Amino acid sequence: MFPGLPSRTSVLVAALSLVVTRLSCSSLSAADIPHIAAFFGTKTRYEEVNPQLLRDVFSVNRSVLKPPPSERCSPVHLTAVIRHGSRYPTVKNIRRIQRLSELVRREAGGGSGGAAEWLQDIQSRWEMWYTEDMDGQLVMKGRDDLRWLARRLAALFPSLLSEENMARVSLRTSSKHRCVSSVEAFQDGLQEHWRPGDHEAHTSEGPYSHQVDDELMRFFERCRGYVEGVEKNRTALLEVEKFKHGKEMEAVRRRVAERLGLPQHRLTPDLVEAAFFLCSYELSIKSLHSSWCFLFDEDDAKRSVQLSSVPSRLQEPSTRPDVPPRSTDVPPEPASILVGHAETLLPLLSLLGLYKDQTPPTADNYRTQHGRSFRSGLIVPYAANLLFVLYDCQRGPRLQLLINESPVRFPGPETEAAPHGTRPT
Ligand SMILES: *[C@@H]1O[C@H](CO)[C@@H](O)[C@H](O)[C@H]1NC(C)=O
Ligand SMILES: *[C@@H]1O[C@H](CO)[C@@H](O)[C@H](O)[C@H]1NC(C)=O
Repeated sequence: MFPGLPSRTSVLVAALSLVVTRLSCSSLSAADIPHIAAFFGTKTRYEEVNPQLLRDVFSVNRSVLKPPPSERCSPVHLTAVIRHGSRYPTVKNIRRIQRLSELVRREAGGGSGGAAEWLQDIQSRWEMWYTEDMDGQLVMKGRDDLRWLARRLAALFPSLLSEENMARVSLRTSSKHRCVSSVEAFQDGLQEHWRPGDHEAHTSEGPYSHQVDDELMRFFERCRGYVEGVEKNRTALLEVEKFKHGKEMEAVRRRVAERLGLPQHRLTPDLVEAAFFLCSYELSIKSLHSSWCFLFDEDDAKRSVQLSSVPSRLQEPSTRPDVPPRSTDVPPEPASILVGHAETLLPLLSLLGLYKDQTPPTADNYRTQHGRSFRSGLIVPYAANLLFVLYDCQRGPRLQLLINESPVRFPGPETEAAPHGTRPT
């Protein structure tokens, strides 16, 4: 398919799969969007990162592809690591939301003066519509997230994500229901791109051709270094626990309790978090500016999001698995689509040395962290994606990285993950 492709290109594809394999161990108008929508951390909508999509979900900016301008280059491979789309809360949060809504319905409004309009709305009109069987499943908007992303990527890489190539495109996914549904939606999106108007192809009945690969996409459950160093390590998340019970979050709890007219002790930190998530879910699932959002001002939201972003910050694996280099003569597959979780993308980004702040966030330094580059809402919203684009250029292969469809510079050459010979553009 790519005659004359320098074998260096194949080496790079091998290097790329090595980077990914290393993980296996080791539409609203602006006025309708809650003022705190940019602070939802991993529960942020993709549109908050790419607001042009609120006007046109298919808008594609071809100038994001930047092979060296002085050479003739063509893209020969795409590795896309993609997070699942918008989803329902998991059972744990659904139960908290249930408890919160009961508490607010029965006991809120005891403060001074009459209840505010938003509180009346929560108490008299909002209904608890989340049920436990929804448990983290992909919502309709989440299917759209992936269908639309697939159509944009097919428009951006017509020579790679073409119908003729499809048999040679590998699609792998985490076994979680929301990820399997996402990779199916991605394939529906490709069909829609190739055969616009062909409704037979859009029935979302398949046939789908992905493989489930938890060893790769849910490495964080199996990687001993991570499980023992973080998951089962009581001190690894100490800062998060300290922050959750520290003075910043106590202040948020006090203010939310005041707004609700509840005694502070009735509102546990878990319930405050549930209220915050509820605002985010009503937006990402139903595109609603929920009355629950009025419980928080911007400062509260920034503190609350700190909670969800800190534990996601993973340590780099300290050991490198021995993966033998691949044979260099096989032409690369046109694309590899990998669908997983925020926990899949973040360690890979850490491994690449991206979004590393000089001072890591701790329970005590919240006030000096406003300018930090590690902002999970900007990095891993729903349908977040890391795109590694390999070009065959006249003077050799080049690799470009895009995050959420925007070009990103590879960190300095001392970073081991930047393959030798690539000049980031
Ligand atoms: C398109 O992408 C380029 C490169 O990232 C950027 O400079 C430009 O502002 C983008 N254009 C639009 C309309 O977003
Ligand atoms: C547990 O986490 C702490 C803090 O990150 C770290 O210093 C320590 O090495 C970890 N322990 C293990 C057994 O990995």
